[in-house]
Amino acid sequence: MKILENQSLQSLNTFGFDVKAAYMAEITGVEDVREATAFGNEKQLEALILGGGSNVLFTKNVDGLVMLNRIKGITVEEEDATSYVVKVGAGESWHGFVEHAISQNWAGIENLALIPGNVGASPMQNIGAYGVEIVQVFEYLEAVHLPTGEVHTFKNDDCEFGYRESVFKRKLKGQYLITHVAYRLQKTPTFNTSYGAIEAELERMGIADLTLRNVADAVIAIRSSKLPDPKEIGNSGSFFKNPVVPVEVYDKVKEKWSGAPAYPAGEGQVKMAAGWLIDQAGWKGYREGDYGVHAKQALVLVNHGGATGQDVYDLSQRILDDVYSKFGVRLEREVNIL
Ligand code: FAD
Ligand code: EPU
Repeated sequence: MKILENQSLQSLNTFGFDVKAAYMAEITGVEDVREATAFGNEKQLEALILGGGSNVLFTKNVDGLVMLNRIKGITVEEEDATSYVVKVGAGESWHGFVEHAISQNWAGIENLALIPGNVGASPMQNIGAYGVEIVQVFEYLEAVHLPTGEVHTFKNDDCEFGYRESVFKRKLKGQYLITHVAYRLQKTPTFNTSYGAIEAELERMGIADLTLRNVADAVIAIRSSKLPDPKEIGNSGSFFKNPVVPVEVYDKVKEKWSGAPAYPAGEGQVKMAAGWLIDQAGWKGYREGDYGVHAKQALVLVNHGGATGQDVYDLSQRILDDVYSKFGVRLEREVNIL
């Protein structure tokens, strides 16, 4: 395994920020993790794990060691009458894996088509879209404990999954490098087309029969119509989480804005749409220099080319403050700030 010095991370983060890493190692297996960690310990470097760089905001150069996860492989580990357990290297592309699953007729992740990034990050924030979250198909993961180099296995309950949350984002933050994730995928699909505009999109596409391919294509079409392609405009998807608030807070907003969207989120709570709040506050399409808010989805902050991570971070703070002062709702960043 080679350790490279003074590497540009511009093509390795979907915001396209022009930052550098003092050291970078490409990780292709467990031994590489141990070797890179030993190097980092010797030089007293902080470790930063990077997959596809599609959920990070770099505000400065990285003084430490970037471990670029490139562990590959897709294997069927188990098969029973109704399902398969498929184990995937953390460095596989997530969308590539979804496409592979569709081609093999493995059901369960078709609604998660076109989410950028790699398999290893899928449990980090329990990725979700169009009514499906990874928690629903997650079987187990393997991860190297960086302080000891031991490989540990985490089952579903160990991960403490929540909405855009897991134990790896909270109390075990920075301690583990996920090497493999195993998913249980079904032989017979249970289609979930009730969320968002999937049904309307299928109709628009003139599709009557439900197949994994057709559902994924509808999701891909909807996503492409509102989310910017990072190859064209730098972004990290939703910058904030949808806030879960007490019903009373929502009721207060509704007094003035009767159409404010919200979804049930457990007893006495609702999940409000952060995109709607930011939009109503007047930020949609905002641009200053090279940073701003996407014109088709107010939840997405963008880099039009020459912005820095600090520009976008400062903008996010202005939006947070403004939404709070207008609606009494505090937004929380979803993107990992580095
Ligand atoms: P990175 O950005 O590289 O890393 C994210 C975090 O995970 C970092 O803290 C990193 O240190 C850590 N990490 C990464 N890999 C590992 C590993 N192997 N072991 C330990 N820690 C690791 N997300 C959704 O949930 N739903 C969506 O619909 C969605 N849509 C998006 C649309 C766009 C256009 C974009 C740009 C992003 C979108 N995202 C969405 C966010 C993003 O795609 C996901 O969070 C994705 O899982 C990030 O994967 P990554 O490999 O790029 O992670
Ligand atoms: N809305 C507006 N204006 C906007 C954006 C949204 O009024 O500018 C309204 C919409 O009309 C709708 C509601 O807000 O009533 C929700 O919008 P949308 O369906 O676009 O979804 P979202 O809540 O903004 C979430 C996820 C996305 C995921 C989609 C589809 C979060 C933080 N975001 O977005 O995930 O793809 O649902 O399931 O939960 C990501 O995490 O990066 C991401 C893109």
